[in-house]
Amino acid sequence: MSKRFKVWVSRPLFADVLARLEQYVDIDAEAVERVHDAQELKQRLAAVDGAIIGLADRVDAATLVGNDRLRVISNLAVGYNNLDIEALTLAGVLACNTPEVLNETTADYAWALLLAAARRVGAAERWLRAGRWRGAMRFDDWLGVDLHGRTLGILGMGRIGQAVARRASGFDMRVLYHNRSRLPAPVESVCAARWVDKAELLRESDHLVLVLPYTSESHHIIGAAELALMKRGSVLVNIARGGLVDEAALAASLREGHLAAAGLDVYEDEPLVYPELLGLEQVVLSPHLGSASADTRRNMAELAVDNVLAGLGLGPKAGRPPAPINPRVLEARRPGSKA
Ligand code: DGY
Repeated sequence: MSKRFKVWVSRPLFADVLARLEQYVDIDAEAVERVHDAQELKQRLAAVDGAIIGLADRVDAATLVGNDRLRVISNLAVGYNNLDIEALTLAGVLACNTPEVLNETTADYAWALLLAAARRVGAAERWLRAGRWRGAMRFDDWLGVDLHGRTLGILGMGRIGQAVARRASGFDMRVLYHNRSRLPAPVESVCAARWVDKAELLRESDHLVLVLPYTSESHHIIGAAELALMKRGSVLVNIARGGLVDEAALAASLREGHLAAAGLDVYEDEPLVYPELLGLEQVVLSPHLGSASADTRRNMAELAVDNVLAGLGLGPKAGRPPAPINPRVLEARRPGSKA
């Protein structure tokens, strides 16, 4: 009988990355992308020592009831609003994520959405593909909002927010940000960004990017009141989590022409998109792909494997996972206490 640890991988991953994992543990890897309901997730996690899971897998206290085998959960994302960290910590389960490796790729994508929304790329392409460019085009067709020389606002100035800010110098933009805590002066200087309170950020930004974590405190941090504070003709981009925005209020603001455009990569009820947003030409929509470059997704998978192996005390980083979310679990762990 095998004495090796067992790891469940809830999403199809790169074969060579899985092969590296398999050198150390037995794996049960899903071959097809699908959603696992709460009951299945509970059963799967009860039958393994470690798991690599995705954002669609929601782990809370109920998921862990009766589970005395699981030691580590490795989230294939930097955000971990799908995990109840308190419940995992109480259950002695180490949780890990994939920070850093996706910062630049996700910041690139914020700019893709900013440019596409401000310059109406989605609507113009749909119009062209529909064969509607037949004769002369009016000189005042497809007028968008400039980025260069305008004010970029960033709500949430962690590593990804800072990477978004650094790119703004190429567009000669003034950069304002709001974060609970102000960045150290040298970091502000590298980002060429100035801290302002949230109301000023909303009032002053021509383009506002949301890059903050989703928690109960940040739920609907952009609602009707905040949208009303934003400039008429401004643009909103959300690359963080859908629940940050009250989507009904956003749709209303766009419909009334207060906001000129929006670029959204994330939705409150993914994979469902608030229906009215689907019908608005001035919204650029993408399916939560901010970190999806070939290199970055591979790096995320490698990091997730490093995390799960190290959390199980295996591999070159045994006992020192690169990205623990609740390192208290490691500190409290006594050799053999949960094996
Ligand atoms: C993350 O890592 O949190 C992204 O949203 C998923 O790619």
